[in-house]
Amino acid sequence: MRRIIHISDIHFGQADYGVVERLVEQIGELSPDLIVVSGDLTQRARAKQFTEARAFLARLPQPQLIVPGNHDVPLYNVFDRFINPLTKFKKFITSDLTPEFIDEELAVFGINTARSMTIKGGRVSHEQVEELEQRLCAIDEGKTKIIVTHHPFDLPEGFDEDDIVGRAKKVMPKLVECGADVFLAGHLHVSHITHSARRYKLENGYSALIIQAGTAASVRERGEDNSFNLLELEKQILRVKRFQCGLPEAGFHLATTEQFSKSERGWARM
Ligand SMILES: [Fe+2]
Ligand SMILES: [Fe+2]
Repeated sequence: MRRIIHISDIHFGQADYGVVERLVEQIGELSPDLIVVSGDLTQRARAKQFTEARAFLARLPQPQLIVPGNHDVPLYNVFDRFINPLTKFKKFITSDLTPEFIDEELAVFGINTARSMTIKGGRVSHEQVEELEQRLCAIDEGKTKIIVTHHPFDLPEGFDEDDIVGRAKKVMPKLVECGADVFLAGHLHVSHITHSARRYKLENGYSALIIQAGTAASVRERGEDNSFNLLELEKQILRVKRFQCGLPEAGFHLATTEQFSKSERGWARM
């Protein structure tokens, strides 16, 4: 059994600092095997915001796998935005833009989808996909394979298609053919779980899970309380437990549990 905490979109600079404290407490209590952070650690990629993000991460258990979000690329400083888009992320958070965590049960890979050219859209390059395919296909089938991006591969109803990671239609089948089980992302500030077969028709009909975390602490909540997910993986069963926090004084509580199982056709809700 493996327990992964997935947090996203903390947005230091526009975070509720009371919620941040409750988040640190709750994650410490849950004591996961791995923490995944799917980007937007800061609001405007400022040094002070990255300093706060780094201090926050230092209070959480290790190991951690972190990818940047569009808000971790400077917006107003044009030189930094186009010439050094991830300099501060690399300096304060991690210089590894292709992070991985591999053990006897799990193989988790992070991809950077944040780009300078768009305000909020993201993208995966040919080179990134080729490299990831090689790493993913080399992992034996017995392990659960998880891909982490900031921009999602699918959306809840009513969201802008531009929020989907660029080139997703080409990328998704390649990764699923190499055995990708679960795609974790953030960016929308809304929790959502769906099957890849809803949007992507693969030849063998296989379906991976696409799991979206809400915002862990941003004050921009888009109609949903702050939240994060705990994934419990036991052989071919995955439980996704969503923890929510309405008022910082009340802390996080378990709001929903959903369970999925894996068969030859992929992952399905139980
Ligand atoms: Fe965000
Ligand atoms: Fe974002």
